[in-house]
Amino acid sequence: MLVPLSFLSFYASVALAHFIVPNDDQDMSGLVVNSIPYSTRVKYMRLANEALFEQSGPCPFAAYGTIIVNHTAADAVVCRGANFRTGDPTIHGEISAINACTKVFQERNMTASEIFAAWGELSIYTNAESCPMCASAIRWAGFKEYVYGTTIQHNYNAGWGVMTLSSYDVFQQSRQLPGWQTSMLGQILTNETDPLFSWQYNEVSRKWRYEQECMERLTAEDKV
Ligand SMILES: *[C@@H]1O[C@H](CO)[C@@H](O)[C@H](O)[C@H]1NC(C)=O
Ligand SMILES: *[C@@H]1O[C@H](CO)[C@@H](O)[C@H](O)[C@H]1NC(C)=O
Ligand SMILES: *[C@@H]1O[C@H](CO)[C@@H](O)[C@H](O)[C@H]1NC(C)=O
Repeated sequence: MLVPLSFLSFYASVALAHFIVPNDDQDMSGLVVNSIPYSTRVKYMRLANEALFEQSGPCPFAAYGTIIVNHTAADAVVCRGANFRTGDPTIHGEISAINACTKVFQERNMTASEIFAAWGELSIYTNAESCPMCASAIRWAGFKEYVYGTTIQHNYNAGWGVMTLSSYDVFQQSRQLPGWQTSMLGQILTNETDPLFSWQYNEVSRKWRYEQECMERLTAEDKV
């Protein structure tokens, strides 16, 4: 069968458009939660991405980066984590950040009960929605806030093996737990987090889109 060329190029452009699976683009510029403006959310989500590159290099396959932030006064990043692929299946970015903060607090000679209480003052920023294991850890910790970028649904659509239980559902089923219900802010800065997860399971995207971005980051780092 003869297929007209115009059809082929149309098909190619449609296929290309789907290489980056977008989240629904919402204008959240007016979003203020716990008196923190959206611009601050954007700033810290970018820091979560940067923490990823600092820990895992410019083009990590497991592109999950997490920081834990004290917004109370100093707006300080207390610690950070990434999926280090050590072989320990529990070391996702969020768990590795929680472990890193626990160590920081122990080094400050805080008692176990002081450390348990500390999470309630802190915000966890992670560039992708937490899997059920990490969402549960976040809820057990009783973080003040949980802020994520790319959704589980996005990564499912992009070909990742995921557990399709949303953080929303984990939190809904956790309401009987004592302590604060963590405030959850999803889909923050997805225009910058989605591309980090969109290339791994797509050969053409891997070659054309992500490698270019990686090269830019490599070049920027080389210049330093
Ligand atoms: C923690 O305790 C140890 C042993 O008592 C002490 O040497 C160290 O200076 C303390 N660290 C801080 C940050 O207070
Ligand atoms: C957060 O910062 C405030 C103000 O500096 C400080 O009092 C508090 O101890 C910090 N909390 C944690 C968990 O580090
Ligand atoms: C992503 O969106 C934010 C607004 O939420 C904007 O400030 C930023 O420039 C965008 N990033 C890119 C890479 O286009």
